[in-house]
Amino acid sequence: MKKILILGSEGFLGSVLVPHLLKDKDISIIGVDKCFFGKNNKKHNNFKLYKKDYKKLSNKFFGNFDFIIDLVNISNDPASELNKKFTNLTNYSNKIKLYNKIKKSKNLSRYIYMSSCSVYGNNKNLITEKSAPKPISLYSKLCLKYEKYLKNKKKIPFSIMRLGTLYGWSSRMRYDIAINKIIRDMIFLKKIEILGGTQLRFFCHNIFACEVIYRIICDNKKKYLNKVFNVGNFNTNIVQLTKKILHLTKMKNVNVYHEKNTIDKRSYEVSIKSSKKIVPNKNFVHLTNKSILETFKKIKKDKSPFSNRKITLSVYKEFLKKNRI
Ligand SMILES: NC(=O)c1ccc[n+]([C@@H]2O[C@H](COP(=O)([O-])OP(=O)(O)OC[C@H]3O[C@@H](n4cnc5c(N)ncnc54)[C@H](O)[C@@H]3O)[C@@H](O)[C@H]2O)c1
Repeated sequence: MKKILILGSEGFLGSVLVPHLLKDKDISIIGVDKCFFGKNNKKHNNFKLYKKDYKKLSNKFFGNFDFIIDLVNISNDPASELNKKFTNLTNYSNKIKLYNKIKKSKNLSRYIYMSSCSVYGNNKNLITEKSAPKPISLYSKLCLKYEKYLKNKKKIPFSIMRLGTLYGWSSRMRYDIAINKIIRDMIFLKKIEILGGTQLRFFCHNIFACEVIYRIICDNKKKYLNKVFNVGNFNTNIVQLTKKILHLTKMKNVNVYHEKNTIDKRSYEVSIKSSKKIVPNKNFVHLTNKSILETFKKIKKDKSPFSNRKITLSVYKEFLKKNRI
C-alpha cells in the first residue's frame, strides 16, 4: 500500500486529485487542509482528513509517508497581494519549516511540489524548463524561491510540477481562473468580458494534472526524480480561447465585450513536450476539446455559480479581515 500525504487536499486541485488517486486500491491518503473553502472530499475507507494548518504538524506526523504532495499556496495573484506577510508565511517561510520536519522521514520516495508556469512572467519565446523564469507577482516569486530551496538543499527527493492555469470542474469550484470564468459568464450572464486578450497562456485540465501526479507516483524507474516539469495541455490567447469555447459549445446569443486597452503583464507560451513525454499516446487536441465540453456540462448544472466561496480572493479577504494577520 502506498501511503500518501496531500497538503491542501480540499482545494480546487486536491478535491479532484483525491478521488483520482483512490481509484488505485493500493493507495491510502491522509489529507491536511485548513479548509478555507470547506471540506470537499467524500468519505472513503482509504482517506482521512485532518482539518489543520500544515505548520502545526509535528515532526513525528511525517514519519510514515511514501509520498507527500504539497498543494498549499495562496494560489492567485490578487489574493497573494492581499496580505504579503500571510502569503510569505504560507507560501514560503512555513514551507522551510515543513522541509526541516520531513527531511528526517526515512520512507519518503518523493515530495511533489505544485509550482506554476506563472514563474515565466512575460516571455516571448516558446518556453521550456531551460528558459529563464521572470516572475512578476508575489505568488510566482515565492513559487520560484521555494523551488530553488528544494533544488539547493537536496535533502528530500523531489519532483516539481510547474502547472499551466488550471481549468475544469471540482467540488471546490473556482471561477477566478480563466476558462471556468468564461464558461460561467457565457452560460449565466450571456456575456463574456475580455480584458486585453492578446496575452498568451498555457492551460492545464485539472484531471490531466492529476494523471501526471499519478504517473510520478508510479514511476519506479525514477525518471522524474529531482526534476522540474512544465505541465499543461494547450496554449492560446484569451481572444482565441473565447472563440474556441463558443465554437465547441455552440452557444448562441452571447455578447462579447473586448476591452483592448487593458494590458496583462503576463504572457508566455509553453512547450507541451514534457507533458507528452509523461503521458504519451494521448491526443492533446482531443483531450483539450473534450475537457472543455465536460467543464461546460458541469458548470451548466452549478446551482450557485456566483457564490463568493468560489472566488479565492473573496474567501481570503474575509479570512484576513476576521483574523488580522
Ligand atoms: N489553480 C491554478 O490555476 C494553478 C495554476 C498553477 C499552479 N497551481 C498550484 O496548484 C496548487 C493547488 O492549487 P488550487 O487551485 O487547488 O488552490 P486552492 O486555493 O484551491 O487550494 C489550496 C488549498 O490549500 C489550503 N490551505 C491554504 N493554506 C493552508 C495551510 N496553512 N495549511 C493547510 N491548508 C492550507 C486551502 O484551504 C485550500 O484548500 C497550488 O500549489 C497552486 O500554486 C494552481
